[in-house]
Amino acid sequence: MPNLNIDFAGIKAPNPFWLASAPPTNSGYQIMKAFDAGWGGAVWKTLGVPVINVSSRYGAVNYGGSRMAGFSNIELITDRSLADNLREMEEVKKYFPDHAVIASLMVETKEEWIQIIKDVENAGADGIELNFGCPHGMCERGMGSAVGQEPAVLQTIVEWVMEVANIPVITKLTPNISHIVDPGLAAARGGTNAISLINTIKSIVGIDLDTYAPYPVVDGKGTNGGYCGPAVKPIALEMVKELAQHPEIQNIPVSGIGGVETWRDAVEFILLGAGSVQVCTAVMHYGFGIVREMKAGLEQFMIDKGYETIYDFKGKALPNVTEWKHLNLKHKVVASIDNDKCIGCDLCYIACDDGAHQAIRIPDESGNRIPEIIEENCVGCNLCSLVCPVEECITMEQRDDGKQHLSWDDKTIANEVPTSFDDDRAGGKGHFVPTVQDALKHRKNNN
Ligand SMILES: Cc1cc2nc3c(=O)[nH]c(=O)nc-3n(C[C@H](O)[C@H](O)[C@H](O)COP(=O)(O)O)c2cc1C
Ligand code: SF4
Ligand code: SF4
Repeated sequence: MPNLNIDFAGIKAPNPFWLASAPPTNSGYQIMKAFDAGWGGAVWKTLGVPVINVSSRYGAVNYGGSRMAGFSNIELITDRSLADNLREMEEVKKYFPDHAVIASLMVETKEEWIQIIKDVENAGADGIELNFGCPHGMCERGMGSAVGQEPAVLQTIVEWVMEVANIPVITKLTPNISHIVDPGLAAARGGTNAISLINTIKSIVGIDLDTYAPYPVVDGKGTNGGYCGPAVKPIALEMVKELAQHPEIQNIPVSGIGGVETWRDAVEFILLGAGSVQVCTAVMHYGFGIVREMKAGLEQFMIDKGYETIYDFKGKALPNVTEWKHLNLKHKVVASIDNDKCIGCDLCYIACDDGAHQAIRIPDESGNRIPEIIEENCVGCNLCSLVCPVEECITMEQRDDGKQHLSWDDKTIANEVPTSFDDDRAGGKGHFVPTVQDALKHRKNNN
């Protein structure tokens, strides 16, 4: 049986599945229940001077048949007293000494940081997470993402914390910044033991078309919220990768957060260098029980691949993530339709004709709706296979022999890249494009 244990910057846990700091970690009751269900760690709902929250406070993007494909909140840090939280933290640690309890913190002054760090250490926390991410409310008061967006300020606070902390410190970053490496470097230079990301993305999930107020609506008004859930995973994965590939940051453990719902999501974060994952929205949606399937799935993946610990595959995808300029321009794939699987919906034809490269035709013979790929027009963009509703009906087939490699970088060095607006070396030179009049050929007379 694979070993799921982790040692994350000195914080030990029986598995890499942690609850992110959020409503599921509001209380000792919830964290005890979660550990009992199988979670390996929990980052306590951010502690600080307790707040007053609004109602309502959550919004969602439902997409197609999926509820909460994206989730948004405008709640702040804990609204419970520090004393209550610390007492419960101590109790949880007594019952679950081998599980990771991390205290998320957000305060303002150096004195407050020093005091609250002492308090959570005394309560038995295994680590501290600095919340520099909250994109609403707290940032208006100079905390949360207001710190995460100012690398110099972030570094100063990390330095204050590192001077006094006796337990590992994780710096949690905001994605609301153009270049995640800047705060990542600031955290590293401040001496942080680890980094976690992402916190929520500043967003408006929708507008009520009767009241014209943004969701979630609070007495007829609203404000930008923090976006999370399955919709944000691609952004989180990219940011984890940015840090994991940076020479000054790559040795600092990273906890991946954002849209983790299944074991596959977790494996993707680990493959990009994460040493643990944190989950919020999926637990708010489905409850603590999802961890059973996550652990079983991860174990099965490790058995299938022959891995004994998560360190056997941590970061394994990183060598395959390169810059665009190094990709092979000689690699050539084209779409291929499996006629036996095709249901004749013609979605691929519409997508390719209107949204891509006019490389699909519908045969003229009446009754036959199975489209045909015009291979010489196909640029291998993938669009048709993405829109096709039938699994494996459109596949991309390789047409080059795999022997040649020529990148934009190589071409630049060889002085072979287009340099003027009408340069003959452009990639589209000679490629089929219908005439503008062809657009009206099938025009229906609606009058
Ligand atoms: C309702 C709600 C409250 C949150 N509160 C906190 C918080 O107090 N501290 C914090 O660091 N992050 C907070 N977060 C952010 C989560 O910890 C996490 O970074 C984010 O939701 C992305 O993960 P997910 O896609 O699994 O939800 C909150 C998120 C939600 C949805
Ligand atoms: S891969 Fe792109 S260009 Fe080729 S047929 Fe599909 S949509 Fe058209
Ligand atoms: S989208 Fe798929 S199922 Fe629909 S016509 Fe194209 S190949 Fe057939």
